Amino acid sequence: MAAPLSRVETVGERDFGAEIRVSGLLHAYGEAGRLPVLRGVDLDVEPGGYLAITGVSGAGKSTLLALLGGLESVQSGSVMVGGRNLASLNGRELAHFRRDVIGFVFQDFGLLGMLTALENVEMALSLAGVSRAERRRRAAELLAEVGLAGRASHRPTALSGGELQRVAIARALANRPQLVLADEPTGNLDEDSALRVLELLERLRAERGCTLVVVTHNQELAERAGRRVRLTRGTLQ
Ligand SMILES: Nc1ncnc2c1ncn2[C@@H]1O[C@H](COP(=O)(O)OP(=O)(O)OP(=O)(O)O)[C@@H](O)[C@H]1O
Ligand SMILES: [Mg+2]
Repeated sequence: MAAPLSRVETVGERDFGAEIRVSGLLHAYGEAGRLPVLRGVDLDVEPGGYLAITGVSGAGKSTLLALLGGLESVQSGSVMVGGRNLASLNGRELAHFRRDVIGFVFQDFGLLGMLTALENVEMALSLAGVSRAERRRRAAELLAEVGLAGRASHRPTALSGGELQRVAIARALANRPQLVLADEPTGNLDEDSALRVLELLERLRAERGCTLVVVTHNQELAERAGRRVRLTRGTLQ
């Protein structure tokens, strides 16, 4: 059995974060790949690293994130995350990879409208053998961690943009991911809320030691990351 992850919840368990190694990644949409989007992307991120990806709308940022998170299959080139070669995983292995390794914060939140904030987070807690009461307790803990203890019973329509984004972050973190992929997590927020959401992701990264990749249009926010790359004409600059 592996050593306990965090017996002393020390700040920055760097070994925990997943390393990313991407090379020669090509990706195209449409019949016969008529719409090339990624044209040879190379990217290395160290375990526990913090990377910001910028680029104009349509540059392929969400596509790249979907490839890193195993949501889109690798057509050509190689994507290694935490030592796994994603192209070599079968459907079941990919599903486990997405559940156990990745925390995805979607561009449009991706919350279920019929469920409360608490239930949305609870749904992500797919730990085998965990009782309903325990899932509920952990979901409540996660909501408290993102400062939303008082909003647990609210449905998405009764939450502000910044609150929705924080529920989405709590849900993404539910299974203690080694890699958090956040697609424009501050896109619809005012400056203050955007900064708070980013600070929250940064704090969680520092506490948990996960690797963090953030897509953002906002140059100022991108400056906060340890490293910045820009996606232009299908390659990273
Ligand atoms: N499933 C798909 N089928 C066909 N084309 C797609 C698909 N998904 C994305 N595209 C196209 O691929 C290109 C890149 O899309 P992507 O969503 O990755 O861009 P983006 O950089 O995230 O843009 P934005 O900043 O607007 O979110 C766009 O031209 C888009 O229309
Ligand atoms: Mg996008």
